[in-house]
Amino acid sequence: MAKRVVLLPGDGIGPDIVASAVRVLRQVFSDRPEALSFQYHQLGGAAIDETGQPFPEETRAAVLASDAVLLGAVGGPKWDQGPGHLRPEAGLLALRKALGVYANMRPVRAYEKLLDASPLRLDVAKGVDLLIIRELTGGIYFGERERGETASAGRFAKDTMYYTEMEIRRVVKKGFEAARDRKGHLTSVDKANVLDSSRLWREVVDDMKKDYSDVTVEHVLVDSCAMHLVTRPERFDVIVTENLFGDILSDEAAVLTGSIGVLPSASLGDGPGLYEPIHGSAPDIAGKGIANPLGTILSAAMMLRHSLEEPERADRIEEAVARVIDKGLRTADLARGRESVSTQAMTDAVIAALA
Ligand code: NAD
Ligand code: IPM
Ligand code: MN
Repeated sequence: MAKRVVLLPGDGIGPDIVASAVRVLRQVFSDRPEALSFQYHQLGGAAIDETGQPFPEETRAAVLASDAVLLGAVGGPKWDQGPGHLRPEAGLLALRKALGVYANMRPVRAYEKLLDASPLRLDVAKGVDLLIIRELTGGIYFGERERGETASAGRFAKDTMYYTEMEIRRVVKKGFEAARDRKGHLTSVDKANVLDSSRLWREVVDDMKKDYSDVTVEHVLVDSCAMHLVTRPERFDVIVTENLFGDILSDEAAVLTGSIGVLPSASLGDGPGLYEPIHGSAPDIAGKGIANPLGTILSAAMMLRHSLEEPERADRIEEAVARVIDKGLRTADLARGRESVSTQAMTDAVIAALA
Protein backbone atom coordinates (compact mmCIF):
# COMPACT_ATOMS: atom_id res chain seq x y z
CA MET A 1 0.00 0.00 0.00
CA ALA A 2 1.19 3.49 -0.79
CA LYS A 3 2.60 5.52 2.08
CA ARG A 4 0.44 8.61 2.58
CA VAL A 5 2.36 11.86 2.65
CA VAL A 6 0.43 15.01 3.50
CA LEU A 7 1.94 18.15 1.96
CA LEU A 8 1.39 21.51 3.66
CA PRO A 9 3.03 24.12 1.39
CA GLY A 10 1.93 27.07 3.55
CA ASP A 11 2.90 30.65 2.76
CA GLY A 12 5.63 32.78 1.14
CA ILE A 13 8.34 30.57 -0.34
CA GLY A 14 6.60 27.48 1.12
CA PRO A 15 4.79 26.37 -2.08
CA ASP A 16 7.95 26.67 -4.22
CA ILE A 17 10.23 24.69 -1.90
CA VAL A 18 7.64 21.99 -1.25
CA ALA A 19 7.18 21.63 -5.02
CA SER A 20 10.96 21.13 -5.29
CA ALA A 21 10.96 18.44 -2.62
CA VAL A 22 8.06 16.64 -4.29
CA ARG A 23 9.91 16.60 -7.61
CA VAL A 24 12.94 15.11 -5.86
CA LEU A 25 10.79 12.51 -4.09
CA ARG A 26 9.18 11.52 -7.40
CA GLN A 27 12.63 11.10 -8.94
CA VAL A 28 13.99 8.95 -6.12
CA PHE A 29 10.88 6.75 -6.40
CA SER A 30 10.89 6.67 -10.21
CA ASP A 31 11.23 2.89 -10.09
CA ARG A 32 8.20 2.58 -7.78
CA PRO A 33 5.96 5.63 -8.30
CA GLU A 34 3.04 3.88 -6.58
CA ALA A 35 4.98 3.70 -3.28
CA LEU A 36 4.06 7.24 -2.20
CA SER A 37 0.78 9.11 -2.41
CA PHE A 38 0.69 12.87 -1.98
CA GLN A 39 -2.22 14.86 -0.60
CA TYR A 40 -2.16 18.67 -0.43
CA HIS A 41 -3.79 20.48 2.50
CA GLN A 42 -3.82 23.98 3.90
CA LEU A 43 -2.04 25.45 6.88
CA GLY A 44 -1.17 28.96 8.01
CA GLY A 45 -2.06 32.14 6.17
CA ALA A 46 -3.30 30.27 3.10
CA ALA A 47 -5.71 28.36 5.35
CA ILE A 48 -6.87 31.55 7.09
CA ASP A 49 -7.68 33.14 3.73
CA GLU A 50 -9.68 30.12 2.64
CA THR A 51 -11.36 28.93 5.85
CA GLY A 52 -10.80 31.56 8.53
CA GLN A 53 -8.69 29.09 10.56
CA PRO A 54 -4.90 28.55 10.46
CA PHE A 55 -5.24 24.78 11.13
CA PRO A 56 -8.58 23.73 9.62
CA GLU A 57 -10.38 20.59 10.78
CA GLU A 58 -9.86 18.98 7.39
CA THR A 59 -6.10 19.43 7.66
CA ARG A 60 -6.11 18.02 11.19
CA ALA A 61 -7.98 14.89 10.06
CA ALA A 62 -5.63 14.40 7.09
CA VAL A 63 -2.37 14.71 9.04
CA LEU A 64 -3.62 12.37 11.77
CA ALA A 65 -4.44 9.75 9.13
CA SER A 66 -1.12 10.14 7.29
CA ASP A 67 2.22 8.33 7.48
CA ALA A 68 4.17 11.59 7.42
CA VAL A 69 3.74 15.32 6.88
CA LEU A 70 5.99 17.59 4.83
CA LEU A 71 5.62 21.30 5.52
CA GLY A 72 7.04 24.36 3.76
CA ALA A 73 6.63 27.36 6.07
CA VAL A 74 3.88 29.62 7.32
CA GLY A 75 3.44 33.29 8.13
CA GLY A 76 3.83 36.69 6.53
CA PRO A 77 3.06 40.38 6.97
CA LYS A 78 -0.46 39.93 5.60
CA TRP A 79 -1.53 38.04 8.73
CA ASP A 80 0.66 39.72 11.36
CA GLN A 81 -2.08 41.96 12.74
CA GLY A 82 -4.57 39.21 13.54
CA PRO A 83 -5.32 38.05 17.10
CA GLY A 84 -2.75 35.58 18.49
CA HIS A 85 -4.88 32.48 18.07
CA LEU A 86 -5.72 33.37 14.48
CA ARG A 87 -2.18 33.79 13.22
CA PRO A 88 -0.48 31.37 10.84
CA GLU A 89 2.07 30.53 13.56
CA ALA A 90 -0.73 29.44 15.91
CA GLY A 91 -1.74 26.92 13.25
CA LEU A 92 1.80 25.55 13.15
CA LEU A 93 1.90 25.14 16.94
CA ALA A 94 -1.53 23.45 16.90
CA LEU A 95 -0.28 21.10 14.17
CA ARG A 96 2.78 20.12 16.22
CA LYS A 97 0.62 19.60 19.29
CA ALA A 98 -1.98 17.54 17.41
CA LEU A 99 0.76 15.24 16.07
CA GLY A 100 2.45 15.08 19.48
CA VAL A 101 5.84 15.64 17.85
CA TYR A 102 7.77 16.54 20.96
CA ALA A 103 11.31 16.00 19.63
CA ASN A 104 12.50 18.32 16.89
CA MET A 105 15.77 17.08 15.40
CA ARG A 106 17.76 19.81 13.68
CA PRO A 107 21.03 18.49 12.25
CA VAL A 108 23.63 21.13 11.43
CA ARG A 109 26.34 20.14 9.03
CA ALA A 110 28.86 22.51 7.49
CA TYR A 111 29.60 21.51 3.90
CA GLU A 112 33.29 22.01 3.08
CA LYS A 113 32.43 23.71 -0.20
CA LEU A 114 30.20 26.27 1.53
CA LEU A 115 32.61 27.33 4.28
CA ASP A 116 33.23 30.67 2.60
CA ALA A 117 29.49 31.40 2.54
CA SER A 118 29.54 31.74 6.32
CA PRO A 119 30.51 35.10 7.80
CA LEU A 120 32.55 33.15 10.35
CA ARG A 121 36.25 32.38 9.92
CA LEU A 122 36.80 29.29 7.76
CA ASP A 123 38.42 27.31 10.58
CA VAL A 124 35.49 27.89 12.95
CA ALA A 125 32.82 26.12 10.91
CA LYS A 126 35.10 23.50 9.35
CA GLY A 127 33.98 19.96 10.15
CA VAL A 128 30.93 21.04 12.13
CA ASP A 129 28.47 18.18 12.49
CA LEU A 130 26.06 18.59 15.35
CA LEU A 131 22.45 17.82 16.14
CA ILE A 132 20.15 20.14 18.05
CA ILE A 133 17.19 18.37 19.63
CA ARG A 134 14.59 20.95 20.52
CA GLU A 135 11.64 20.12 22.77
CA LEU A 136 8.69 21.08 20.57
CA THR A 137 5.32 20.67 22.29
CA GLY A 138 5.90 22.24 25.71
CA GLY A 139 7.59 25.10 27.51
CA ILE A 140 6.78 28.77 27.12
CA TYR A 141 5.17 28.21 23.69
CA PHE A 142 2.35 26.26 25.31
CA GLY A 143 2.24 27.48 28.93
CA GLU A 144 -0.48 29.54 30.54
CA ARG A 145 -0.79 33.01 29.08
CA GLU A 146 -2.74 36.10 29.87
CA ARG A 147 -3.25 39.66 28.70
CA GLY A 148 -4.77 42.32 30.90
CA GLU A 149 -4.50 45.78 32.35
CA THR A 150 -4.12 47.16 35.86
CA ALA A 151 -4.93 50.66 37.04
CA SER A 152 -1.46 51.24 38.49
CA ALA A 153 0.88 49.70 35.92
CA GLY A 154 -1.06 49.70 32.67
CA ARG A 155 -1.19 46.74 30.34
CA PHE A 156 0.44 43.41 31.16
CA ALA A 157 1.13 40.17 29.32
CA LYS A 158 2.18 36.83 30.72
CA ASP A 159 3.71 33.70 29.17
CA THR A 160 4.66 30.76 31.35
CA MET A 161 7.50 28.30 30.96
CA TYR A 162 6.09 25.07 32.34
CA TYR A 163 7.55 21.56 32.05
CA THR A 164 6.62 18.25 33.59
CA GLU A 165 9.16 15.55 34.32
CA MET A 166 7.50 13.34 31.71
CA GLU A 167 7.94 15.97 29.00
CA ILE A 168 11.58 16.46 29.87
CA ARG A 169 12.36 12.78 30.19
CA ARG A 170 11.02 11.73 26.79
CA VAL A 171 12.94 14.37 24.83
CA VAL A 172 16.15 13.92 26.82
CA LYS A 173 15.88 10.19 26.09
CA LYS A 174 15.99 11.05 22.38
CA GLY A 175 19.11 13.06 23.15
CA PHE A 176 20.88 10.18 24.87
CA GLU A 177 19.90 7.75 22.12
CA ALA A 178 21.08 10.10 19.39
CA ALA A 179 24.39 10.71 21.19
CA ARG A 180 24.90 6.97 21.52
CA ASP A 181 24.51 6.60 17.72
CA ARG A 182 26.80 9.55 17.02
CA LYS A 183 29.96 10.69 18.85
CA GLY A 184 28.70 9.83 22.35
CA HIS A 185 28.50 13.34 23.77
CA LEU A 186 25.35 15.07 25.03
CA THR A 187 25.13 18.76 25.92
CA SER A 188 22.03 19.69 27.87
CA VAL A 189 21.34 23.42 27.59
CA ASP A 190 19.36 25.32 30.19
CA LYS A 191 19.24 28.43 32.36
CA ALA A 192 19.45 26.61 35.68
CA ASN A 193 21.12 29.57 37.38
CA VAL A 194 17.80 31.41 37.09
CA LEU A 195 14.84 29.24 36.08
CA ASP A 196 13.13 26.54 38.11
CA SER A 197 12.00 24.75 34.97
CA SER A 198 15.70 24.54 34.04
CA ARG A 199 16.67 23.18 37.46
CA LEU A 200 14.09 20.41 37.02
CA TRP A 201 15.42 19.81 33.50
CA ARG A 202 18.95 19.40 34.90
CA GLU A 203 17.80 17.01 37.65
CA VAL A 204 16.06 14.79 35.12
CA VAL A 205 19.15 14.68 32.89
CA ASP A 206 21.32 13.76 35.87
CA ASP A 207 18.85 11.01 36.89
CA MET A 208 18.98 9.49 33.44
CA LYS A 209 22.79 9.55 33.10
CA LYS A 210 23.30 6.22 34.86
CA ASP A 211 21.40 4.40 32.11
CA TYR A 212 23.74 5.75 29.45
CA SER A 213 27.24 5.14 30.78
CA ASP A 214 28.58 5.23 27.19
CA VAL A 215 27.49 8.86 26.77
CA THR A 216 29.36 11.80 28.29
CA VAL A 217 27.06 14.54 29.52
CA GLU A 218 27.63 18.21 30.19
CA HIS A 219 25.29 20.99 31.26
CA VAL A 220 25.81 24.35 29.58
CA LEU A 221 23.93 27.56 30.27
CA VAL A 222 22.09 28.87 27.23
CA ASP A 223 23.92 32.21 27.04
CA SER A 224 27.28 30.49 27.11
CA CYS A 225 26.07 27.92 24.58
CA ALA A 226 25.10 30.74 22.22
CA MET A 227 28.67 32.01 22.35
CA HIS A 228 30.31 28.61 21.99
CA LEU A 229 28.17 27.75 18.98
CA VAL A 230 29.96 30.40 16.94
CA THR A 231 33.38 30.21 18.60
CA ARG A 232 33.96 26.50 19.34
CA PRO A 233 31.16 24.61 17.56
CA GLU A 234 33.31 21.50 17.24
CA ARG A 235 32.85 20.84 20.95
CA PHE A 236 29.20 19.90 20.35
CA ASP A 237 27.77 16.58 19.25
CA VAL A 238 24.13 16.41 20.41
CA ILE A 239 22.49 19.40 22.08
CA VAL A 240 19.17 18.86 23.85
CA THR A 241 17.18 21.82 25.09
CA GLU A 242 13.76 23.29 25.72
CA ASN A 243 11.52 24.77 23.06
CA LEU A 244 12.43 28.49 22.97
CA PHE A 245 16.16 28.01 23.58
CA GLY A 246 16.22 25.44 20.77
CA ASP A 247 14.43 27.79 18.40
CA ILE A 248 16.96 30.55 18.94
CA LEU A 249 20.08 28.38 19.03
CA SER A 250 19.18 26.58 15.81
CA ASP A 251 18.85 29.80 13.81
CA GLU A 252 22.20 30.84 15.24
CA ALA A 253 23.75 27.50 14.31
CA ALA A 254 22.56 28.06 10.74
CA VAL A 255 25.26 30.72 10.44
CA LEU A 256 27.83 27.90 10.54
CA THR A 257 26.45 26.40 7.34
CA GLY A 258 26.30 29.60 5.31
CA SER A 259 22.50 29.89 5.17
CA ILE A 260 19.41 28.92 7.07
CA GLY A 261 18.10 27.73 3.71
CA VAL A 262 20.03 24.45 3.90
CA LEU A 263 18.87 23.23 7.30
CA PRO A 264 16.24 20.49 7.55
CA SER A 265 14.34 19.13 10.51
CA ALA A 266 12.36 16.12 11.66
CA SER A 267 9.78 16.41 14.43
CA LEU A 268 9.07 13.08 16.03
CA GLY A 269 6.56 11.72 18.51
CA ASP A 270 4.63 8.47 18.66
CA GLY A 271 2.56 8.98 15.49
CA PRO A 272 3.25 10.47 12.04
CA GLY A 273 6.40 12.58 11.84
CA LEU A 274 6.45 16.20 10.71
CA TYR A 275 9.23 17.36 8.40
CA GLU A 276 10.05 20.99 7.71
CA PRO A 277 13.03 23.21 6.97
CA ILE A 278 13.98 25.31 10.01
CA HIS A 279 13.55 28.61 8.21
CA GLY A 280 10.37 30.59 7.72
CA SER A 281 8.31 31.79 4.79
CA ALA A 282 10.95 34.39 3.80
CA PRO A 283 8.48 37.11 2.71
CA ASP A 284 11.41 39.26 1.52
CA ILE A 285 12.16 36.84 -1.34
CA ALA A 286 8.76 35.17 -1.86
CA GLY A 287 7.62 34.96 -5.46
CA LYS A 288 11.07 35.65 -6.88
CA GLY A 289 11.98 32.03 -7.64
CA ILE A 290 15.27 32.28 -5.74
CA ALA A 291 14.54 30.45 -2.46
CA ASN A 292 16.97 27.73 -1.48
CA PRO A 293 15.07 24.42 -1.71
CA LEU A 294 17.79 22.29 -0.05
CA GLY A 295 16.47 22.53 3.53
CA THR A 296 13.11 21.16 2.37
CA ILE A 297 14.68 18.53 0.12
CA LEU A 298 16.84 17.36 3.03
CA SER A 299 13.73 17.34 5.25
CA ALA A 300 12.12 15.01 2.72
CA ALA A 301 15.17 12.75 3.06
CA MET A 302 14.73 12.76 6.84
CA MET A 303 11.09 11.82 6.27
CA LEU A 304 12.13 8.79 4.23
CA ARG A 305 14.55 7.72 6.97
CA HIS A 306 12.47 8.36 10.10
CA SER A 307 8.86 7.78 9.02
CA LEU A 308 8.76 5.82 5.77
CA GLU A 309 11.39 3.11 6.29
CA GLU A 310 13.33 4.10 3.19
CA PRO A 311 16.81 4.82 4.58
CA GLU A 312 18.62 4.01 1.33
CA ARG A 313 16.59 6.44 -0.70
CA ALA A 314 17.18 9.00 2.06
CA ASP A 315 20.93 8.44 1.69
CA ARG A 316 20.65 8.87 -2.07
CA ILE A 317 18.95 12.26 -1.71
CA GLU A 318 21.53 13.45 0.81
CA GLU A 319 24.38 12.28 -1.44
CA ALA A 320 22.83 14.02 -4.44
CA VAL A 321 22.56 17.28 -2.47
CA ALA A 322 26.19 16.94 -1.35
CA ARG A 323 27.31 16.41 -4.96
CA VAL A 324 25.43 19.47 -6.18
CA ILE A 325 26.97 21.59 -3.45
CA ASP A 326 30.36 20.15 -4.28
CA LYS A 327 29.95 21.22 -7.89
CA GLY A 328 29.66 24.79 -6.64
CA LEU A 329 25.98 25.41 -7.33
CA ARG A 330 24.52 28.05 -5.00
CA THR A 331 21.22 29.83 -4.62
CA ALA A 332 21.31 33.58 -3.87
CA ASP A 333 21.36 33.13 -0.08
CA LEU A 334 24.73 31.38 -0.38
CA ALA A 335 26.19 33.31 -3.27
CA ARG A 336 28.19 36.02 -1.42
CA GLY A 337 28.89 37.82 -4.65
CA ARG A 338 29.23 34.71 -6.80
CA GLU A 339 26.90 33.59 -9.53
CA SER A 340 23.66 32.09 -8.25
CA VAL A 341 20.99 29.76 -9.61
CA SER A 342 17.21 29.75 -9.18
CA THR A 343 15.12 27.43 -7.01
CA GLN A 344 14.17 25.58 -10.13
CA ALA A 345 17.74 25.17 -11.41
CA MET A 346 18.96 23.97 -8.00
CA THR A 347 16.15 21.40 -7.93
CA ASP A 348 16.93 20.30 -11.50
CA ALA A 349 20.57 19.78 -10.46
CA VAL A 350 19.60 17.59 -7.49
CA ILE A 351 17.31 15.55 -9.73
CA ALA A 352 20.07 15.17 -12.31
CA ALA A 353 22.48 14.05 -9.58
CA LEU A 354 19.94 11.41 -8.51
CA ALA A 355 19.18 10.10 -11.97
P1 NAD B 1 12.78 33.53 7.76
O1 NAD B 1 13.47 32.27 8.11
O2 NAD B 1 11.56 33.39 6.93
O3 NAD B 1 13.79 34.47 6.98
C1 NAD B 1 14.99 34.98 7.54
C2 NAD B 1 15.97 35.37 6.42
O4 NAD B 1 16.47 34.16 5.83
C3 NAD B 1 15.32 36.16 5.31
O5 NAD B 1 16.23 37.09 4.82
C4 NAD B 1 15.02 35.12 4.25
O6 NAD B 1 15.00 35.59 2.94
C5 NAD B 1 16.16 34.14 4.45
N1 NAD B 1 15.74 32.76 4.11
C6 NAD B 1 14.99 31.94 4.85
N2 NAD B 1 14.79 30.79 4.21
C7 NAD B 1 15.43 30.88 3.02
C8 NAD B 1 15.57 30.02 1.90
N3 NAD B 1 15.03 28.78 1.86
N4 NAD B 1 16.29 30.45 0.86
C9 NAD B 1 16.86 31.66 0.86
N5 NAD B 1 16.76 32.52 1.90
C10 NAD B 1 16.04 32.14 2.96
O7 NAD B 1 12.46 34.30 9.11
P2 NAD B 1 11.62 35.64 9.38
O8 NAD B 1 11.84 36.60 8.26
O9 NAD B 1 11.95 36.01 10.74
O10 NAD B 1 10.12 35.16 9.36
C11 NAD B 1 9.26 35.31 8.25
C12 NAD B 1 7.92 34.64 8.55
O11 NAD B 1 8.11 33.22 8.64
C13 NAD B 1 7.30 35.07 9.88
O12 NAD B 1 5.92 35.19 9.66
C14 NAD B 1 7.61 33.91 10.81
O13 NAD B 1 6.67 33.76 11.84
C15 NAD B 1 7.56 32.75 9.86
N6 NAD B 1 8.33 31.57 10.25
C16 NAD B 1 7.77 30.36 9.98
C17 NAD B 1 8.47 29.20 10.24
C18 NAD B 1 7.82 27.90 9.93
O14 NAD B 1 6.81 27.88 9.27
N7 NAD B 1 8.37 26.79 10.35
C19 NAD B 1 9.77 29.28 10.76
C20 NAD B 1 10.31 30.54 11.01
C21 NAD B 1 9.59 31.69 10.74
C1 IPM C 1 10.44 27.52 13.76
C2 IPM C 1 9.66 28.82 13.79
C3 IPM C 1 8.41 28.65 14.62
C4 IPM C 1 8.83 28.34 16.04
C5 IPM C 1 7.42 29.83 14.59
C6 IPM C 1 7.05 30.23 13.21
C7 IPM C 1 6.19 29.51 15.39
O1 IPM C 1 10.45 29.86 14.25
O2 IPM C 1 9.88 26.50 13.30
O3 IPM C 1 11.61 27.50 14.13
O4 IPM C 1 9.15 29.25 16.80
O5 IPM C 1 8.83 27.15 16.39
MN1 MN D 1 12.54 29.34 14.41
